[in-house]
Amino acid sequence: MNTIFSHGIASGDPLMDRVILWTRVSVSGENDVEVKWEVAKDRDFSKIAGSGSVTASREHDHTVHADPSGLEAGTVYYYRFRAEGETSATGRTKTLPKSGSKHIRFAQVSCAKYNAGFFNAYKRISEQPDLDFILHLGDYIYEAANTPPAGQTPGADIGRPFDPIHECKTLEDYRTRYAQYHADPDIQAMHAALPIISTVDDHEFADGAWRGGGDVHDENRDGAWSDRLARCFQARNEWLPIRLPDPQDPQRVYRKVEVGGLADIFMINTRTYRDRPVLPPEMYDKSRTALGQKQKDWLFTEFEKSNSRWRVLGNPSVMSTTWRADVSDEVKLALLKTKLIAADGLGPDYDQWDGYPAERKQVFDLFRKLKGNIVVLSGDIHVSMAIEMHEHPFDIAEEPVSVEFINTSLTSQNLDDKMKWGYRTESLKYEHGIQEAFPHIKYCELDSHGYNIVDIDPERVRVEYWHFETVLKRTDHEFLASVWQVKHGNPALIKIK
Ligand SMILES: [Fe+2]
Repeated sequence: MNTIFSHGIASGDPLMDRVILWTRVSVSGENDVEVKWEVAKDRDFSKIAGSGSVTASREHDHTVHADPSGLEAGTVYYYRFRAEGETSATGRTKTLPKSGSKHIRFAQVSCAKYNAGFFNAYKRISEQPDLDFILHLGDYIYEAANTPPAGQTPGADIGRPFDPIHECKTLEDYRTRYAQYHADPDIQAMHAALPIISTVDDHEFADGAWRGGGDVHDENRDGAWSDRLARCFQARNEWLPIRLPDPQDPQRVYRKVEVGGLADIFMINTRTYRDRPVLPPEMYDKSRTALGQKQKDWLFTEFEKSNSRWRVLGNPSVMSTTWRADVSDEVKLALLKTKLIAADGLGPDYDQWDGYPAERKQVFDLFRKLKGNIVVLSGDIHVSMAIEMHEHPFDIAEEPVSVEFINTSLTSQNLDDKMKWGYRTESLKYEHGIQEAFPHIKYCELDSHGYNIVDIDPERVRVEYWHFETVLKRTDHEFLASVWQVKHGNPALIKIK
């Protein structure tokens, strides 16, 4: 039984020649602890590729990051740590492939609400030998109180209450929440098997986070929002295997991940730079931004410059339109319960890209200009969808500007959970209704939890939707619910299964 390494090991932000290795030592008191690491080409550590030592200090909550360089591209490595006479478990990781790569395959996930379910998906992802990495689109943690305020869904009664029990606000709160996640055996298995590449959604910070606050953040009660954001990023940078894209800016997440010339993955942050979410008519103000000027300049420049075979956008909040005024009450109920429209039912959801239409149009113009090799991967809404993205979704003659593949949540509640009806029963007619109202939504499943597998070769991107019947108990029973594909040069969805 490991006691020092009780929060597991992890790797992340792989490049062709390096990858971040992470662990934490559980020691009491203020003392610094020397942590030795080694990385090898074999599980027995007979072919050592690098070794070194880092200091775990109280200042960083006794977490450590090593960044061994000089590794070979597209290669599996094993790593482990030693401290205080103990040796950690052995982790497996992989460097990114070198230019000329013909195939990559990775998992796409988001929305892991600890008190809503077991992380069955992480476990199954960890068991797949052919993945290059796991792409996390945010809500790695939820900051919420175990009994949240009205408007947020409470957890399931499955003996997994949040620690701390209250909403995270202080640095110690966020650290404790990350520590709880890292003590979970399924998260540990995932991290020990694959490097993670992640961005953020609002729950790494506070519900409904934006540049100047969050839905339930009260500056009089909770202090300055900028201070809270700094604490959130500090805990996240300590507790995840992250290489800061800009060491001078601990809050920068957006970056380009170059995967073998086959895909450039643009990881964006649509939460902490955006203008405050507002209702119409203010919503339509042309100057409003979801990206913030600096990130937007970076994205537009780098996206246009990219000469990889595919451009992939790692996008934490849904980009396609899910708002339409003239829908039946039935469809409206499903849209309301899955938060795809405003809570009053009278307009678009101000929290997703629907709430930033002027800037989205600029993104669509860019997509149209670069037509044919763009794929948007999105999370956040806890349901599975595959969508042909249109600027005018109800004009069926218009060519799609791109395609969007939305993964369901790992555990966060979706339609059957919220309505408390049986799995794959009542929801079916609502799914049907949504697809009738929104012809651009080619696939829509509102009940299951799980993950996507994204499989890319030069000719096509294929996305597999893997689902579980339940997350209310630990199970490894998963099934392939659907498979969709887009061909290079033609932004149209093709159903494979
Ligand atoms: Fe979420």
